[in-house]
Amino acid sequence: MRKESGMGTQRGGRHIVILTGAGVSAESGLGTFRDEDGLWSEYDLEEVATPEGYAANPALVLDFYNQRRANCREAAPNPAHFALARLAKEYPGRVTLITQNIDDLHERAGSPEVLHMHGEIMRARCADCEARPAWTGDITLKSGCAQCESVGRIRPDVVWFGEMPYFLDEIAELLSEADLFVAIGTSGAVYPAAGFVAEASRHGADTLELNLERSEVSAYFEETRLGEAGILVPAWVESILKYG
Ligand code: OAD
Repeated sequence: MRKESGMGTQRGGRHIVILTGAGVSAESGLGTFRDEDGLWSEYDLEEVATPEGYAANPALVLDFYNQRRANCREAAPNPAHFALARLAKEYPGRVTLITQNIDDLHERAGSPEVLHMHGEIMRARCADCEARPAWTGDITLKSGCAQCESVGRIRPDVVWFGEMPYFLDEIAELLSEADLFVAIGTSGAVYPAAGFVAEASRHGADTLELNLERSEVSAYFEETRLGEAGILVPAWVESILKYG
């Protein structure tokens, strides 16, 4: 454990940096990507999650994300989301939550600050003026931008393969300061997020993985606990709040 971190000792505890993936929302009924019945077994990633796919067939891509938005509206946070919100509120040190998820279940569970590195499904983005308005309904080819008044230039505010994730500078700084890095419900198949454990570890953080099965980067973690996030995460939060 790093003892010298100013951030970590500010309120008497460590600085915990958490990375979540689709597995944390699986028990809320939102599909993961790479599990047997995952989204990438049903849809072609190149067609629906790349700028080239969008250029080739924007209606298909908008439909795909309209469905994700509808599913998100219907889903509710599960015990894993609530436990992470509780940790942020009750832990005496600093807790930072980075998510690859585009759903808003962390926020709806009460997490005060969430870095959505792959964007947010409940937001749109204007390709002309870069406005990022909250967007709860469908996006269509006729959707207009309230800021610059262009029409047909609105897309979901999600990061596609080949695009730059959000918050990378901020995340690099967080990983360099972390005393404990915890990854929850992520397969470790997609970079740069899959590389965060090695980065945090290089800077001296302890590392813990909570996942249903071993991930592609399990070997980089000091400890891996296997099971469902809805069980593992509340138990881990309970122990951290009790023993630090
Ligand atoms: P994946 O679908 O790749 O991995 C989900 C992980 O969660 C797997 O390792 C599962 O074993 C685990 N899992 C499933 N159910 C679980 C449960 N109930 N409790 C705990 N773990 C569970 O999803 P991500 O790693 O989040 O990016 O995928 C990363 C990125 O790839 C996504 O953000 C998305 C995707 O393509 C973009 O679209 C840009």
